[in-house]
Amino acid sequence: MGAGKSAVALALAARLGRRHVDLDARIVATSGRSIERIFADGGEPAFRALEARLAEEVLGEESAVVALGGGAVTQTPLRRRLLAEGTLVTLEARTDVLLARVGGGEGRPLLQPDPRRAMESLRARRAAVYAECHGRVDTSDLALGEVVERVASLASEVRVPVPLGEDSYVVEVGEGYRHRLEERVAGYGGVILVADPNTERYRDEPAFEACRVTLDEGEAHKTIDAVARIWDAALAYGVDRRAMVVAVGGGVVGDLTGFAAASLLRGVAFGQVPTTVLSMVDSSVGGKTGFNRSAGKNLVGAFHQPKFVLCDPVVLDTLAPAERIAGLAEVAKAAWLEGEEAVARLERDAEALVRGDRAATITAIESAVRTKARVVALDERESGVRMLLNLGHTVGHGLEAAAGYGALRHGEAVSLGMVAAMRVAMARGRASASAAERMEALLHALGLPVDLDARLGAEVWPYVDADKKRQGDAVRFIVPGEPGQTRVETLPVDEVRRAVER
Ligand SMILES: NC(=O)c1ccc[n+]([C@@H]2O[C@H](COP(=O)([O-])OP(=O)(O)OC[C@H]3O[C@@H](n4cnc5c(N)ncnc54)[C@H](O)[C@@H]3O)[C@@H](O)[C@H]2O)c1
Ligand SMILES: [Zn+2]
Repeated sequence: MGAGKSAVALALAARLGRRHVDLDARIVATSGRSIERIFADGGEPAFRALEARLAEEVLGEESAVVALGGGAVTQTPLRRRLLAEGTLVTLEARTDVLLARVGGGEGRPLLQPDPRRAMESLRARRAAVYAECHGRVDTSDLALGEVVERVASLASEVRVPVPLGEDSYVVEVGEGYRHRLEERVAGYGGVILVADPNTERYRDEPAFEACRVTLDEGEAHKTIDAVARIWDAALAYGVDRRAMVVAVGGGVVGDLTGFAAASLLRGVAFGQVPTTVLSMVDSSVGGKTGFNRSAGKNLVGAFHQPKFVLCDPVVLDTLAPAERIAGLAEVAKAAWLEGEEAVARLERDAEALVRGDRAATITAIESAVRTKARVVALDERESGVRMLLNLGHTVGHGLEAAAGYGALRHGEAVSLGMVAAMRVAMARGRASASAAERMEALLHALGLPVDLDARLGAEVWPYVDADKKRQGDAVRFIVPGEPGQTRVETLPVDEVRRAVER
């Protein structure tokens, strides 16, 4: 209330040439009652029901700029729809500014009887929902025109929110966005920048004062020693709890840096500048961090969400083409989880993606991150639906481990694992032969390996079995179907093996 949404929405609609909708005004017009009257008659629940219905009506209409009532986003299903289908911007301001703008609170039922206290308690109660947005603008000291420009610029960017209450963050995708790093770390008390020898150049571009750590490159060095190197460098640098640790690199640097941040001084802030396709679409989003032990990959780790993720496709120009292609396996996986539209888009763009076309790459990253963000928001700690992200990974991990880490890239193994998963799906009557052919054709068009029979040996199964032991008696297998029809099933390893070996 008083943040300026009505005036900003009106001016923004004019600036963008879009229709303007004031949701509260529509509620009043539709119901023929004042907002105070609706509250007096049916209480807040009646008002919220009407508000949700009309907001969904607006979403179904042509593009508009909508000023939402301050409480509209407290309705989680509505907020998640707004996040998925629109650009949701939070306008905020200091309490004294807000109070002055609402003229002390008269005619505002939610602010009675003590406007300042009511406002502060509303702010505290709603902090977690207002954090779930594409961007925030503090309007306290800005003129209307400046606020409009900032919101317009947020709306013009590729931004994917990962909505996790007060741990929410935004994945920003665009050319040159790595240069936003300096702005994103401003205000933290000591910055540690971590890279590997292949990504140092991007870490060292911003010349601001920071502790710079270089790790050894590759999966073989994804160890506790590498984590300790980050801890020691940070502690020698003299960081405190206000520190920000940033990964500038692929999934290996990201997972190690995230874990170091999660454990350093019992947890400091963390940011990601992913530099591989795989890390942009997968590992930098969702907060899984960790390192390998001789018993297996990623066996020790922590959930620790980043504060920001800056995806700059320009850095992919120096990435080996085979690494870039391997990352597309996770893009294909995400599309298959998402549904028909995402798969069809990927089929259309496959050739451009293989070439490394910039626009197609940005679209593919956005689409995959949206899927991952949606799944992570539903199940941050992987107790249910997040397991779907393991599509292709059960047999894939087996192939990867059996080949010896490094011999087969993770993405290549996932591609073969998806082919294997389709065989299981067909054997169980969950997928048609045409769905299986379509998936194989897509993976092949993306330059990924699909020759499963040539690569499958008996040595794969002990690894799948080991996976099973960690899960209980049977393996929780991700069974695809038509696009958007993937499910988690608990299957005996023997059944998986029979179906995959055919
Ligand atoms: N946390 C998660 O949710 C999650 C999800 C998927 C994968 N992962 C992890 O991610 C890791 C794989 O990530 P990856 O494929 O990014 O591997 P990676 O970090 O090893 O990078 C691949 C190679 O590319 C080099 N490189 C990176 N960016 C470059 C650039 N812009 N230019 C030139 N060279 C560059 C690296 O030095 C490395 O040699 C695995 O350890 C896997 O377990 C984690
Ligand atoms: Zn993966």
